[in-house]
Amino acid sequence: MQLLRTGAFLRAARSARFAVVQSRTAPSATTYIRTPSRWSSSQVAAEQQQLQQRSFPEQSVAGAKEVDPAKTAESKSDGQPGHQKTIAGAPYVLDNTTNVTDSILNLVGRNLYEHPDHPICITRKLIESCFPQPEYNHFTMSDPVVTVRDNFDVLGFPADHPGRSRTDTYYVNSSHLLRTHTSAHQHAAFQTLGSEERTTGYTICADVYRRDSIDRSHFPVFHQMEGARVWGLDPDIESRYAAQSARTAKMATQLKALPSTSIIVEDNATNFSTDVNPMQPEHDPTEVQLVVSHLKRSLEYLMQQIHNAAQQSIPQSARTPLQVRWVEAYFPFTSPSFELEVLWNGEWLELLGSGVVQQSILNKAGLTRGIGWAWGLGIERFAMLLFGIPDIRLFWSTDKRFLQQFSSGKITKFEPFSKYPPCYKDIAFWINPAPAGASPRGATPWGSAAAAGGDATKASPTETQPAAFHENDIMEVVRDVAGSLAEDVKLVDEFVHPTSGRKSLCYRINYRSLERTLTNEEVNRLHDEVAKRMKAQFGVELR
Ligand code: PHE
Repeated sequence: MQLLRTGAFLRAARSARFAVVQSRTAPSATTYIRTPSRWSSSQVAAEQQQLQQRSFPEQSVAGAKEVDPAKTAESKSDGQPGHQKTIAGAPYVLDNTTNVTDSILNLVGRNLYEHPDHPICITRKLIESCFPQPEYNHFTMSDPVVTVRDNFDVLGFPADHPGRSRTDTYYVNSSHLLRTHTSAHQHAAFQTLGSEERTTGYTICADVYRRDSIDRSHFPVFHQMEGARVWGLDPDIESRYAAQSARTAKMATQLKALPSTSIIVEDNATNFSTDVNPMQPEHDPTEVQLVVSHLKRSLEYLMQQIHNAAQQSIPQSARTPLQVRWVEAYFPFTSPSFELEVLWNGEWLELLGSGVVQQSILNKAGLTRGIGWAWGLGIERFAMLLFGIPDIRLFWSTDKRFLQQFSSGKITKFEPFSKYPPCYKDIAFWINPAPAGASPRGATPWGSAAAAGGDATKASPTETQPAAFHENDIMEVVRDVAGSLAEDVKLVDEFVHPTSGRKSLCYRINYRSLERTLTNEEVNRLHDEVAKRMKAQFGVELR
């Protein structure tokens, strides 16, 4: 699943958490120049403005070499190693790792979360309102290019984590990628947290990018929000013991002050004393309980507010209580970790991931005496439930019939304006065998899914060139050729030739526009182009 692929992961491979975390040095830097990453805040308070103006720690990797910015003005965009490409105003030199395509880069900078009448922005504001000032600063991050270090290394992702794979992540070059989650900004955001007296929490909203399957709930660009809260030790209290007692008391008071909710909560993740979902050894058990309770109550309040907003348009008599449950999860950057699921049309739906922040992450950000929580969620999933939006592509629509339905601060049910006919086309091909030495699919200890993207059941190894055909390859080709005219792509047939041992796959592509009827010729042209590119790029033999 695209939003938070962790629950299935945990259930499938609990033991993965104990996989040896291999150290990974950031890939060698390529020619690169970049302005320091900046936060843009959605608030206007003076302190916020200061924060906005402040340059946040340079997220580049050591050894970066400057290029002449003037040259990049005529940067080529054919994706060839050595060529340059300008993304969000900064030039990058492409290399063998590059797999980002122009169709993806065309979506960079739309900043849907900033348009007050857009459902993504309305949802963001609703979520932010549950984490108010002065405790929480609200940030948006418009530049999606981050370092491999910030997206993975700093957060403790092992070297063989499927999220790092080129089949799952868009690499700009070997050191930079399009962030796969807002957690890529955790390290820098924690560095903004000041002393006890100052703000101790934040939310971040940003567009994130993952190579993924094509269907109504997956799009290669979507939006995430992340929240965090840290409690420091009062520097004016000399004894650590006394400072910690004061903090514990403060946390308990703040926990009591959180608004209560009327939702039905089942908590299946309350034990942190075993190896399954452990607390961190450096933490005090009482404080961990308080942090976890504060996290869970804060998110339950969020759920209550979302539910209230969703039910506004429903008559009182038809309203139903909200049912949620906490389950154990795994993220490299939190422990213990939790997922919140909601009962929706009789099914449990994963909504967000969360947990107690790994102390090493706080330490790296200078918060050595802090303890805190973090959560992350996909905004589209909330917005689809809130507004009844049935297809994720609609969020990117520029059609007035979509956009004019929504206005700032209001949750209204989406009125479908049309249903244009679908057009199915099949593509069948023999795939090349994997070259010697390539890891078999799903051979990682990561189970079927993981945080920050990465599906180990489909993953090819993490080496720079994909070893063999990967399902996301056809998804990418279809996206590049058909853009949002592709509604879904499904594997409908596969078999292995009894004598040659070669594998044949057949995918069904459903072309459908949300805005008009596609002509036969148009669809044929698109489909022929998909076939041509599959052959040229992946050496498949069409059948
Ligand atoms: N970054 C995680 C994901 O995308 C979500 C998360 C954020 C989990 C913060 C825990 C804490 O899957």
